[in-house]
Amino acid sequence: MSDYAIQTSQLTRDFGAIRAVDGVTLDVPSGIVFGFLGANGAGKTTTIHLLLGLIEPTAGSARTLGFDTRQQGQAIRERTGALLEFNGLYERLSALDNLDFYGRVWHMPATERQARIQELLTHFGLWERRKESVGAWSRGMKQKLAIARVLLHHPQLIFLDEPTSGLDPVAAASLRDDLDALARREGVTVFLNTHNLDEAQRLCAQVGVIRSGKLLAVGSPDELRANTDAPRLEVTGAGFDEAALAAVRSAPGVARVEFQPAPRGAEGADGHDGRLLIELRGEARGAPIVSVLVGAGASVEEVRRDQASLEEVFLSLMEEGQ
Ligand SMILES: Nc1ncnc2c1ncn2[C@@H]1O[C@H](COP(=O)(O)OP(=O)(O)OP(=O)(O)O)[C@@H](O)[C@H]1O
Ligand SMILES: [Mg+2]
Repeated sequence: MSDYAIQTSQLTRDFGAIRAVDGVTLDVPSGIVFGFLGANGAGKTTTIHLLLGLIEPTAGSARTLGFDTRQQGQAIRERTGALLEFNGLYERLSALDNLDFYGRVWHMPATERQARIQELLTHFGLWERRKESVGAWSRGMKQKLAIARVLLHHPQLIFLDEPTSGLDPVAAASLRDDLDALARREGVTVFLNTHNLDEAQRLCAQVGVIRSGKLLAVGSPDELRANTDAPRLEVTGAGFDEAALAAVRSAPGVARVEFQPAPRGAEGADGHDGRLLIELRGEARGAPIVSVLVGAGASVEEVRRDQASLEEVFLSLMEEGQ
């Protein structure tokens, strides 16, 4: 087996005049959770359809689990699982009957089928409720069952197209935790489409950012953050008037300064209370900058140093691409 679950070369797909996927060259290592990040219409779902061999590329090529997607779609679909827009569940059947149905589709022998179903339902906390019909279940429970369905036949690779969309934050977090634990335990490669950056940051060893069909960046969330962005300081306090801001702007190592006033009702008498976001160049140190602020008459309450979130990196990549 190759070290890569997915390899594409200049993969391209047009729909009429629309280039949905545009020259994507990407290697996804086996055994990781890979996040494919992009806004609505970026080409995420089309990419999954290409990787499953459900549609043909207009140009370029792709290998999924080493199989050519044009010639060997059947072999790919036998060895993978996919949760696409349709969750694949029968609402009038019980959870048990749903999984049993799919286990038969995959020709799993009865004992193996039963053991696997119990294992997965237990993992997702659904075993006690296995006899209920799923029509009455919450969206979060249905999504967990849908993922159990996708994993049933021990695929080496699964595709999940925005699995947590429409879930409340608690249900989404619970689904993510279960998925993460299971992916680790079974060593399955996960290709996850999402536009939820928080999700990508929590779950994915690597992410690819796609915009208008083009792959803009690939790397671990930390790498993307480190490459795209300088560290920054967040300073809370009072007396951030124009003079203080000007002094910080001209301090060495400062790239950009933004003042965010305190919310109404929480500000002091002079209206200069709030938060300064100071973007630093390279390895600039924070202490001298704080001294400049204090020297200019501001009073500093708290200083935090942090990196931009993946969300900010994502937004800046989107802006650069415009
Ligand atoms: N079957 C199709 N026929 C025509 N155009 C299509 C078809 N499928 C996708 N497209 C177009 O290709 C582009 C990419 O769509 P795609 O569904 O891959 O985006 P996406 O990243 O999955 O978006 P979303 O986050 O909204 O699901 C869009 O402009 C879309 O309208
Ligand atoms: Mg989509």
